[in-house]
Amino acid sequence: MTAAVSGRRHLVLVGLMGAGKTSVGMRCAARLDRAFVDTDEVIEATTGRSVTDLFRDGEDAFRSLERQAVADACAAPDPVVVSCGGGAVLDPDNRRVMRATGTVVWLDAPARTLAGRVGEHAGGSRPLLAGGAPTVETLERLAALREPAYEAAAHVRIDTDGLGVDEVSDAVLEELARCDA
Ligand code: S3P
Repeated sequence: MTAAVSGRRHLVLVGLMGAGKTSVGMRCAARLDRAFVDTDEVIEATTGRSVTDLFRDGEDAFRSLERQAVADACAAPDPVVVSCGGGAVLDPDNRRVMRATGTVVWLDAPARTLAGRVGEHAGGSRPLLAGGAPTVETLERLAALREPAYEAAAHVRIDTDGLGVDEVSDAVLEELARCDA
């Protein structure tokens, strides 16, 4: 994690499923008076299909739509708040564009906390949690696999364990102000 280049940059939120990227992102966007972009929502709106349905064509097909959604969000002329799907950081092009145009904040929490937040029926809308394994185990496995990618993508890591949306948003906005100073 190295310093962000200063200026009015996007705020880009990354982290595993259940990290709070969407709820915190919406709150931060309202407080900053910026537009909010959720890459999963963009993909669903542009294809007219749900993420779950798109995964039926294979994860690679979803990842290429995600790459386009990240590139488009980061190409916005005015600074926006972007919530990236949990796996977006795996793609080096995504990491490059988000770091080049934004301050990248990693919302982190232990797998048990993430599992509690996504709830028991997370597999209904999150295909990677639909495999039948306990959600906490899948999230532990993904956390271990993805940790280096989050580390490489993020300028800042925030431990959100035990914090609510307002407290996390406060922490994110403090970090953004510090990085953009
Ligand atoms: C994924 C996370 C999801 C969604 C898709 C894949 C992942 O987004 O993009 O189900 O690979 O971690 P959220 O992190 O917003 O749930």
